[in-house]
Amino acid sequence: MPEPSNEKPATTALAGRRILLGVSGSIAAYKAAPLTRLLVKASAEVQVILTEAATAFVTPLTLGTLSKKPVLTGFLRDAAAGEWHNHVELGLWADALLIAPASANTIGQLANGLCPNLLCAVYLSARCPVFLAPAMDLDMFAHPAVTQNLARLRSFGNHIFDSPSGELASGLIGHGRMLEPEDIVDELVHFFEK
Ligand SMILES: Cc1cc2nc3c(=O)[nH]c(=O)nc-3n(C[C@H](O)[C@H](O)[C@H](O)COP(=O)(O)O)c2cc1C
Repeated sequence: MPEPSNEKPATTALAGRRILLGVSGSIAAYKAAPLTRLLVKASAEVQVILTEAATAFVTPLTLGTLSKKPVLTGFLRDAAAGEWHNHVELGLWADALLIAPASANTIGQLANGLCPNLLCAVYLSARCPVFLAPAMDLDMFAHPAVTQNLARLRSFGNHIFDSPSGELASGLIGHGRMLEPEDIVDELVHFFEK
């Protein structure tokens, strides 16, 4: 029988921080699982919000289990009972809103103040720092529409993580990859250490 692990959660600047993790519909959404795990290991409290497109790439069950909280995917909790998820309260609850991966579609919606889903509504309601980790194929990432949308989000004071160059899911090589989960967590730790 293996010995039970005595591993203690790491104490970092993320300890006790309330992180809203928005996951949108990129192939990189599978990396939301190790990202959630690392945030929880850093003793952050994590509430995951998935877009509908993201649920095709990573399941609420996986992220709900890792975050130890039910995942939110839509405005309504129980339509028949008239129960809904309060995006204003969620926006006020968070110490940081991290959108990783951020798809071209979600980036465009946020940059233009559109509100088609819970994640966008929370973004518009949030008073906390916002971090986005774009993830898309290199031609999408290089498109002026995406570049302009990211510049617009930066002008709102949002933090946009670099997209490292490397091999993409399409087999093409270039920028567009999501920053690795370990590096995202390091960036957040540095932010909260300041
Ligand atoms: C297999 C597959 C992979 C995709 N990967 C990406 C991606 O990496 N980045 C991206 O911006 N869109 C990607 N898309 C397109 C998005 O899923 C699509 O634009 C979707 O509407 C995004 O919705 P959301 O922003 O609400 O999550 C992909 C679509 C498919 C079918």
